[in-house]
Amino acid sequence: MLDPDLEAALNEQLTKETFSSYLYLAMVAHFEHEGYPGLAAWMRAQAEEEHQHAMRFFDFINDRGGRVKLAAIDEPPLAFGTPLEVFQASLEHERLITRSIEALYEQADRSTQAFLDWFLTEQVEEEKTVGQIVDTLRLAGDSGPSLLLLDRELGARGAADADAGA
Ligand SMILES: [Fe+2]
Ligand SMILES: [Fe+2]
Repeated sequence: MLDPDLEAALNEQLTKETFSSYLYLAMVAHFEHEGYPGLAAWMRAQAEEEHQHAMRFFDFINDRGGRVKLAAIDEPPLAFGTPLEVFQASLEHERLITRSIEALYEQADRSTQAFLDWFLTEQVEEEKTVGQIVDTLRLAGDSGPSLLLLDRELGARGAADADAGA
């Protein structure tokens, strides 16, 4: 059985992962609007991944005999600024999520810790990937050709993930 406090904390993380998906979807809309189809495709794959993260919590709570409780999702911003600012916001958000999962880990029982191990590894990967994009965008500055190239390059991930059904 799931401890009620732990169940509440897992439901809270489910909500945060759902918000992550919603936030990234808002970034997709922003990129589409700003004329960066590649960055939009990359971020769309990211939004879908976050939905899968939420579903991992959904299934885990059920598997442990807990009760899933879906909460209201905050409204994400409409606009995010330059591509660099968007990815900086994404990196900041990922760091927040990492701290949230680390805090959850502290109050988790052994089985939940085993479940959370995957997320801790995933967060290292996500912070690294988004951090690298932030670095590249910083180097690109406001060079149109560099941004165009990066848009094409990152767009390839969106397409590859869509083909893989991920
Ligand atoms: Fe996530
Ligand atoms: Fe994430």
